[in-house]
Amino acid sequence: MTHTPTHPLQHAAQHGHQHLGDGQGEILDLDAEVLAEYIAAITEWLPIQTAPRQIIDLGCGTGAGTFALLDRFPEAQVTAVDASAAHLQRLREKACERGVAERVRTVLADLDDPSWPDLGTPELVWASAAMHHMAHPDRALRAVHEIVTPGGLFAVVELVGFPRFLPENAPEGRPGLEERCHAISDHHHAEHVPHRGADWGPKLTAAGFTLEDHRTRAVDIEGSRNPTVGAYALASLRRLRNSVADALTAEDLTALNQLLDTDSPHSILRRKDLAMRTERTVWAARRR
Ligand SMILES: C[S@@+](CC[C@H](N)C(=O)[O-])C[C@H]1O[C@@H](n2cnc3c(N)ncnc32)[C@H](O)[C@@H]1O
Repeated sequence: MTHTPTHPLQHAAQHGHQHLGDGQGEILDLDAEVLAEYIAAITEWLPIQTAPRQIIDLGCGTGAGTFALLDRFPEAQVTAVDASAAHLQRLREKACERGVAERVRTVLADLDDPSWPDLGTPELVWASAAMHHMAHPDRALRAVHEIVTPGGLFAVVELVGFPRFLPENAPEGRPGLEERCHAISDHHHAEHVPHRGADWGPKLTAAGFTLEDHRTRAVDIEGSRNPTVGAYALASLRRLRNSVADALTAEDLTALNQLLDTDSPHSILRRKDLAMRTERTVWAARRR
């Protein structure tokens, strides 16, 4: 396994990616754990003609897609690319723990940079919850089209928004609190992450791909069935609190603090109605 420090990330810092290590790694790991079954199902669904040997995971984070793809395609090598050195470090540690280090190459790169490092000629490129982070996603899609082998596939997996953990009528006394937090956060994201929630089908076609298929799958996992949902909810809402606390009313902030206080009787971890609700859409695009 090699680590190629290709870009010093000045561009990432200029474009606001410097916050990426800020608790995101833990959340990505929890997301991967809770959604493992769903991610595996997406890899099974992909319209693959011949099992790929070379795969790229763009914006790989801590490796949710990388490890699902290594499991799905036992003969494949994955090149995992990200702008966060911390995420790549974590991914390498996990690869060692899983005994697959020799099948993974990590590349530190800012994919908003107009010139990409040499990523080889993959038969499959995977980008999950990554393309919407690009400042120039159309340019990135064209760059993928240039490197994927003819007949190869590009799988873009995206989410409409962040997962929800509480029912609409929660918490008692401040119903709708989670939605109000997200409304504040979405306002910020609309400006800074404008491509979240985009329809990637026409973008992929414009980049030269033939769109083969796409599908949206709803995710609804009860906390009572999966203990990681509680940890995920806590980490996500703590991070959300950091970005919205200043804009919340005093009453909402108090209620949110109680939910996040694991010693409080109102702690999110004590709720019987906790669940993770989200959805994932995947577009499968082929280079002819
Ligand atoms: C929401 S995370 C998704 C991570 C992973 N694909 C997954 O499904 O768990 C988005 C990832 O994209 C990376 N990223 C964002 N902008 C990037 C850029 N310009 N170049 C490379 N990676 C970037 C982030 O560092 C982060 O790891």
